[in-house]
Amino acid sequence: MSFFDDKIAERLGGVNFGKSTQIYKFELIKRAKAAAKIEHPDIPIIDMGVGEPDWPADPLVVQILSQEAGKPENRWYADNGIPEFQHAAAQYLRNAYGVQIENPAENIIHGIGSKPVLALLPICFINPGDILLTTVPGYPVSATYTKYLGGEVFNLPLLESNSFLPDLESISHSVLKKSKLLYLNYPNNPTGAAATQEFFKRAVDFAHRYNIVVIHDAAYSALTYDGYKPLSFLSVDGAMDVGVEVHSLSKAFNMTGWRIGFICGNPKAVKAYATVKDNTDSGQFRAVQKAAVHAFNHLEITQATIDKYSRRFNLLVQALCELGFKAKKPKGSFYCYVPAPIGTEEGVQFKTAAGFSDFLIRSALISTVPWDDAGAYIRFSVTFEADSIEKENKVIEEMKNRMKKLKLKF
Ligand SMILES: Cc1ncc(COP(=O)(O)O)c(C=O)c1O
Repeated sequence: MSFFDDKIAERLGGVNFGKSTQIYKFELIKRAKAAAKIEHPDIPIIDMGVGEPDWPADPLVVQILSQEAGKPENRWYADNGIPEFQHAAAQYLRNAYGVQIENPAENIIHGIGSKPVLALLPICFINPGDILLTTVPGYPVSATYTKYLGGEVFNLPLLESNSFLPDLESISHSVLKKSKLLYLNYPNNPTGAAATQEFFKRAVDFAHRYNIVVIHDAAYSALTYDGYKPLSFLSVDGAMDVGVEVHSLSKAFNMTGWRIGFICGNPKAVKAYATVKDNTDSGQFRAVQKAAVHAFNHLEITQATIDKYSRRFNLLVQALCELGFKAKKPKGSFYCYVPAPIGTEEGVQFKTAAGFSDFLIRSALISTVPWDDAGAYIRFSVTFEADSIEKENKVIEEMKNRMKKLKLKF
């Protein structure tokens, strides 16, 4: 026994920490990619699995960062943020979502990306035994923290038959009695589904009825297509009384590595987040916050990204349909979520989406992300590398040709 063997907290597995032989999905994908590269060094991988934009941040946003980075007044710990950021975020919510924020100082605080905000929120609310209701498949950060804190997680499956919205009425009374938080994410990763105003109204009503705080993860909210307008949970009457919304500049403004986002909503919830945040980090660099202010004031940056993704979705969906997939262009996000094939005409069988995804990378060098939480589905992302429209066409054409040879069965 080594010194650390009995030191690791139970929440990480205690004495069993590091002994699990289970290999996690993204590690499996990484390994399959590496193996495929070694086996076929001359064939480029077509990467449809990436969960971040292919474009860098807008040049003017980069310029603001470089101007602000050296200014002496920006050097300090930023703590819970600068007022310019809070005001610009409020204005952004008004311009992009039609949401009026009366008091940005009380309703908005930045985060070092939205991931840490989603991690810190359970610390604000979850006592041991409390339940977080969360949608699956999905982004697991709030659920992981809930478990760290001795809370429980109740999964709400996202099914095509319910437009990939959770069935809130299906939850038993005994679960509802212990439920403290409801995590929602629309447009959704990975299903690409968008919420409706009507669904958000039902969520607010549900929150009131059962005394449950809503966390709406709006990481993809700005990326919507074909007339579907960006929709904020906070645009629904009463939402501010029961919940918070977590926004990110990562996807809307191609700023994943910059680590900037914000929480907006109920002042008491925001204050609780501010308290935990203040004891966790010392704020994002002011120069990054100032660059973000510029981004907030330039919605055309997001529009250019939307135009690109929309164009790519049209190509991708058509190619997938021609191959036999039941693909539909999503209303939002940058993901196309389709049922996985069951096998090939040559007798290969796929028991899970993970099995198909592994086969696809090894036999056609196409990387995707599989989901088996609520049916066997594959996620194709339109953030693949292509620096011109011509190249986008080529990537999709090549993907189609490679997959055609596999003779997939559905
Ligand atoms: C649904 C969802 N929420 C939140 C995040 C975190 O984004 P960030 O921390 O970059 O703001 C991601 C990142 O992929 C995501 O997919």
